[in-house]
Amino acid sequence: MKLQKEDRLRVFISSSRIHKKVNSLARRIKKDYEGKNPIFIGVLNGSFIFIADLVRNLGIDIEIDFLKLSSYGDSKISSGSVTLLKDLNCAIEKRHIIVIEDIIDSGLSIGYIRDLILLKRPASLEFATLLFKKGLSSLSFDVKYIGFKIPNEFVVGYGLDFAQKYRNLKSIYILKK
Ligand code: IMP
Ligand code: MG
Repeated sequence: MKLQKEDRLRVFISSSRIHKKVNSLARRIKKDYEGKNPIFIGVLNGSFIFIADLVRNLGIDIEIDFLKLSSYGDSKISSGSVTLLKDLNCAIEKRHIIVIEDIIDSGLSIGYIRDLILLKRPASLEFATLLFKKGLSSLSFDVKYIGFKIPNEFVVGYGLDFAQKYRNLKSIYILKK
């Protein structure tokens, strides 16, 4: 995709840094999950590129499913409420689950997903997120696999959008106001 003049984007994390990080997360996950046939649950739409790169670097047997939550719409600010737009299609009871997020901002989405999944009694549940915004004051649980901790800026690219735009960019950019 060619950037236009009016797109006020500044490179924040280059595609080569992203790929190194995704590889190192994949190595950690492989070590932790070899022989466990985990289910990766991607949170749509933002995680689709991250999960695709992650699972292709794993080299272990896994399964994949997706969840979709209500989005921010065209706003940069969370609406403060979450609803489920697409539920899981697989049975997760007694399975090892890793939820794959693009970014954790307020923590609202991931908290909602955690409650939803725990109701279905998995054998284990962990979270992987490429980006974690540092402004987040408290989460009542651990996020085991974090790619980059970032300041409280609005970012796009590598799956992340603003009003559905920029998901296809290879690097991650700060969208200037
Ligand atoms: P949370 O519920 O506030 O943690 O927000 C999580 C979701 O909001 C992410 O999965 C993203 O889809 C979206 N989001 C949060 N921050 C950003 C951002 O900086 N750029 C693009 N999307 C974001
Ligand atoms: Mg998302």
